[in-house]
Amino acid sequence: MSAKIPFNKPFIAGKELYYVAQAVTLGNIAGDGHFTQSCCRLLEERFGIHRVLLTPSCTAALEMAAMLCDIEPGDEVVMPSFTFVSTANAFVRLGARPVFVDIRPDTMNLDESQLAAHVGPRTKAIVPVHYAGVACEMNDILQLARQHDIRVIEDAAQGVNAFYHERALGSLGALGAYSFHETKNYICGEGGALCINDPQFIERAEIIRDKGTNRSQFFRGQVDKYTWVDVGSSYVPSEIVSAFLYAQLEMLDVIGERRRQIYDAYYERLQPWERRGLLRLPRVPSGCRSNHHMFYIVVADLATRDGLIEHLRREQISAVFHYVPLHSSPMGRRFGYAEGDLPVTEEMSDRLVRLPFYYEMNHEDQQRVVEQVSRFLERHGKTFDAAVCPDFVFSDKPHDG
Ligand SMILES: Cc1ncc(COP(=O)(O)O)c(C=O)c1O
Repeated sequence: MSAKIPFNKPFIAGKELYYVAQAVTLGNIAGDGHFTQSCCRLLEERFGIHRVLLTPSCTAALEMAAMLCDIEPGDEVVMPSFTFVSTANAFVRLGARPVFVDIRPDTMNLDESQLAAHVGPRTKAIVPVHYAGVACEMNDILQLARQHDIRVIEDAAQGVNAFYHERALGSLGALGAYSFHETKNYICGEGGALCINDPQFIERAEIIRDKGTNRSQFFRGQVDKYTWVDVGSSYVPSEIVSAFLYAQLEMLDVIGERRRQIYDAYYERLQPWERRGLLRLPRVPSGCRSNHHMFYIVVADLATRDGLIEHLRREQISAVFHYVPLHSSPMGRRFGYAEGDLPVTEEMSDRLVRLPFYYEMNHEDQQRVVEQVSRFLERHGKTFDAAVCPDFVFSDKPHDG
């Protein structure tokens, strides 16, 4: 019996425990100490972000963004349905209604050509989600937002170290949110960051993050005592977590390069199956630089997807689908959505399979995954034809890697 190939395996870059020990020795393990500051400065400098504040998760960063935009009951927030629950929950918890836009079948990102039709007088924010670390069409999104005076909050949970026309994801909207959850490229177990590109948000973000107090100003000597000044919560991560994260961020390029190699190897070895029309590989539009967060394939239909995942499971290979669209979830239905409302989202959710992908994946394991995908497609694969996906014209843009 072959050893199990997991879907994900958290990568330890090397200095994590050393830095955690340093944090403990320095004697400040609560938050916003040496390592938190070091992570923030590194992210700001590398990615051209005006101000970065570490948070306990991307979910927390999105919640802060929603509070900073003064989301209120009755507001509408436009976003894809093909995303993780936190994209919506951060706004819904303040009383907003999520307005779901369908996605593009080539990148799985919100379809910018449909955006204008979903923006109305109650729209307070647009939340583009950069799926798999490939950018949304941000020029179009930002232009529409400017015309309507709406905030753009990038959900860049999967987009750390990915670029759109040489600008880092997370640096383009007024606000952005990163994730350092153990499933991401750069990790600390649970973690995240709020990216602030519009400086008017900085002061209030510091207050919201620190229980609604002006403690940051107190530590900088700007006020002589700190007190309760606004609503807020506990969104400062511990120095222990930040120390762990710093070891990862120092290895940004090394981790990024290894992931590119794994991605390219999948791409190259599975290309013959795309030429035969039995699967579709990820697309990276020109102008986008991926961070190779995941490797997915799109197969002919739901039965093929389920069959492939089951075949891989029997061969000790863990592959998964993505996502249960938010509009078809029980919560989505409470907002009046129903099956059939977002056809491309539903189709892609039925057909997408994520293959195992992690830093330490070796050549043999990757070869085993490719062989088993190939074996399944040889026996059970279906070519995509008009009956399977009538509306889709897949753009044949080059793979920018
Ligand atoms: C698109 C997206 N948004 C938000 C999140 C939430 O991130 P976190 O687990 O850091 O809260 C995730 C996590 O997978 C995600 O993929």
